[in-house]
Amino acid sequence: MANKSIVFLYSYHHKNTQKIANAIAEKINATIVEIDNNTNLVELGNYDLVGFGSGINSGKHYSQLLNYIEKIPNVQNKKAFIFSTSGIYTEKNVKRSYNSQGIIEA
Ligand SMILES: Cc1cc2nc3c(=O)[nH]c(=O)nc-3n(C[C@H](O)[C@H](O)[C@H](O)COP(=O)(O)O)c2cc1C
Repeated sequence: MANKSIVFLYSYHHKNTQKIANAIAEKINATIVEIDNNTNLVELGNYDLVGFGSGINSGKHYSQLLNYIEKIPNVQNKKAFIFSTSGIYTEKNVKRSYNSQGIIEA
């Protein structure tokens, strides 16, 4: 069975993250789900790879995305990734931002 991929997205300001999500989705043949604070949880059982993307506000991924992630029950045996667009530049500063959100240990 082919791997199935899904990308959860919140992008509004310049739709910058939407452009990145579109490029990723095309490459990995993923479904994009645009979320907001009222989006119902999508059942992840059918998906092998799950992505999350948004812009950055005050050094964090948009709260709409983080709130959605908080609601997702623990799942096993999934691969996941997270991405963002922002005014942050240099790898060091991106790592620092992701580290401060507990996403990676830089
Ligand atoms: C209210 C607001 C707060 C922002 N805060 C930050 C920030 O703390 N750090 C940063 O690097 N960029 C910040 N930005 C820039 C956005 O993260 C950046 O423009 C992003 O690409 C927008 O994504 P979107 O077009 O997908 O919504 C902020 C933008 C807005 C509108």
